[in-house]
Amino acid sequence: MSTTLILGAQWGDEGKGKIVDLLCSDFDIVARFQGGANAGHTIVCGGKKIILHLIPSGILHDTIQCIIGNGVVIDPFALLDEMEMLQRHNIEVAGKLMISENAHLILPYHQIIDNEREASKQYTTIGTTGRGIGPAYTDKIARIGIKAADIYNEQKLREKIIAQADEKNKLLKFIHNSPKAITSDTVDIFVAACQKLLPYITDTTYYLNNAIAAGKRVMLEGAQGSLLDIDFGTYPFVTSSNPTAGGACTGTGIPPNKISRIIGITKAYCTRVGNGPFPTEQANNVGDIMSQKGHEFGSTTGRARRCGWLDLVALKYSAMINGITEIALTKLDVLDEFDEIRVATKYIVDGNQADKFPTYMDERHIEVEYTTLNGWKTALNGINNFNALPLQTKEYIGFIENFMGIGVSMISTSPERNDTIIR
Ligand code: GDP
Ligand code: IMO
Ligand code: MG
Repeated sequence: MSTTLILGAQWGDEGKGKIVDLLCSDFDIVARFQGGANAGHTIVCGGKKIILHLIPSGILHDTIQCIIGNGVVIDPFALLDEMEMLQRHNIEVAGKLMISENAHLILPYHQIIDNEREASKQYTTIGTTGRGIGPAYTDKIARIGIKAADIYNEQKLREKIIAQADEKNKLLKFIHNSPKAITSDTVDIFVAACQKLLPYITDTTYYLNNAIAAGKRVMLEGAQGSLLDIDFGTYPFVTSSNPTAGGACTGTGIPPNKISRIIGITKAYCTRVGNGPFPTEQANNVGDIMSQKGHEFGSTTGRARRCGWLDLVALKYSAMINGITEIALTKLDVLDEFDEIRVATKYIVDGNQADKFPTYMDERHIEVEYTTLNGWKTALNGINNFNALPLQTKEYIGFIENFMGIGVSMISTSPERNDTIIR
């Protein structure tokens, strides 16, 4: 079996964690390739809930090797917290986790800058997770970032951080008027945290490619979602990485021709957390029902997620840029109560019909044309057999498949691992 890529087809929180965990029995390795602790991937098994931010969602399985790829930005404190959380749940991490030496680190000043920029009136407020993601990727691209490999030499690591902190402290003081600064204590604490990660740091690019050559089955786990992509999303209301298919290659070193299965995780409706355009948003009773039934609160920040109808115009765009070969449809049970279910099938952009998703929406007037389907008014929770689904549910799935020209291979009907239909 070749490498499988699992990615978010919308604005994140599609249920990637659940599907990655579910599919683990068919894989040997799970690798994250971008993002950082801005992600929150939830796994529910036997009523026990685990939320992962940096560690791949394969960690619950004893036989899975988990990789944090070079494209990820790592906050050492967040990673150590996550390791402790897993230990409290008796989930072994030692021997099961590898960190790419080429992954960049998030330093305390990245988080401060992230939050100062968000608070500043000079910039657009994106509604970031405040985890320092944007500033860390900025330094990576500017070639002044600090990498996991820098942890190999403690003295040099310290020198690099001090040099950076000097510049960042000036930025905080003179540009942001911030009283916050990086002190020598901050540096000591950070370096000590980094040392704890030393046993996990290695070359993961050769490891992954050798594993594939040896016939090992690799699953690549995306974070965020395609419409939050730095290049293809609704810029500037995006994250600072490529959650799309290309990011899986640059974030691991696995070449594109080794990836043949690309599963687009798609919520049966849409959510978005943070600011930015959301054409099918329902800031009304419909959205409230989705929010309550779907418990739509961020797994990382606890913020309320904005809710709206499924947007097939956006999804088709996502399928195009990712080469999605199959769809995993999640949270279908959240739509149980609706008499009618709407799906966006066309946009009217500045008065003209359009079947394209415009990523630049600033000065454009977007109206959405919907197709209305019948609701099923039956509890789907826990159904794990396609034939047992109500006719209207099958029609809803069939409509999506016809519009997209892509099959729905998995259907999730509750947060629980096993409440999933695999066709
Ligand atoms: P991720 O970031 O894509 O992994 O998704 P999150 O974990 O942030 O958010 C998805 C939420 O929906 C989590 O609370 C999951 O437990 C939950 N979930 C996943 N699949 C289903 C489903 O089919 N039905 C319901 N009701 N909840 C689900
Ligand atoms: P998972 O992996 C949903 C959003 C933030 C904000 C924007 C930029 O759980 O699906 P950032 O902190 O990345 O600079 O914030 O991206 N965002 C997410 N939204 N799910 C996520 O991850 C997200 N990670 C970032 O809310 O709008
Ligand atoms: Mg999430």
